Amino acid sequence: MLSYQHIYHAGCFADVVKHLTLVNLLDYLTKKDAPMLYLDTHAGRGAYDLTDKLALKTGEANLGILPLWTKRAELPDVYKTYIKSLEQMNKGTELRYYPGSPALALELLRKQDRAVFCELHSGEQSHLRSSLPKKRVKKFIYHDDGLNILNALMPPIERRGLIFMDPAYELSSDYKNTADAITRAHKRFKTGVYCIWYPIIDERMHLPLTRGLEAIQDSPYLSLTFNLQKTQTIGMGACGLWIINPTYNLADIMHSVLQTLTTILNPGESSYKIFTHKV
Ligand SMILES: C[S@@+](CC[C@H](N)C(=O)[O-])C[C@H]1O[C@@H](n2cnc3c(N)ncnc32)[C@H](O)[C@@H]1O
Repeated sequence: MLSYQHIYHAGCFADVVKHLTLVNLLDYLTKKDAPMLYLDTHAGRGAYDLTDKLALKTGEANLGILPLWTKRAELPDVYKTYIKSLEQMNKGTELRYYPGSPALALELLRKQDRAVFCELHSGEQSHLRSSLPKKRVKKFIYHDDGLNILNALMPPIERRGLIFMDPAYELSSDYKNTADAITRAHKRFKTGVYCIWYPIIDERMHLPLTRGLEAIQDSPYLSLTFNLQKTQTIGMGACGLWIINPTYNLADIMHSVLQTLTTILNPGESSYKIFTHKV
């Protein structure tokens, strides 16, 4: 029984970090004409209304996208594509709609690309079907387990691809299951770019994921963490992203993105780390 609904967390600091990573990866990958697969294993509903009572209940955007939106005119170039997507969705100066990973990805994908979205929650899945922007990209939506679809699609016919994985981690077994699914997929598609998001609540929870990812051989990776607070509080005060086969200069780009973010989100308290591993 799935109870997680991302609308409660839409536009939170973790969304900002994950979506800036996603957009910068796609910005680079779509520079080459060759077609690519974009697989979003946990797609969510596609776009979020920040004035929805469920979003207002937690108000997480107040410590995430809203302070960033206020400073949008002063941001460095590495924010350009992300902010442009937000501006396209919001016609005035108020930020009401926040794009989820599917909407952000579709903005950047081209007609030669293939986009596959998986969403297991029935309600979220039907929202996703109705909210996706009309664009000439081959789009497929599966009301299915993203890990099964990952297994079924590897290696992709395009031989180029970004696998974006943003599970809800409702069960503690999700951490290990995610690492195992990527390990299997990587054996069949070693050159794919895999981007995995995870919450940092208590290290013991996410270690089965990060240890599993660390054990994957033959591919470089980049791992980054963003802490909103100096000291660990109850709940999610930090998050991480793990990128296998990161695109060229992603480390430099993310340094610039996260450095700026520490000056806007909880300044004086927030911090980040980036680690790169070469083979
Ligand atoms: C964190 S949200 C995704 C947010 C989205 N990626 C974004 O950035 O806008 C995780 C989503 O995964 C869905 N979900 C949970 N288990 C799943 C599974 N096994 N396969 C596919 N989707 C799943 C949840 O219903 C939820 O909508």
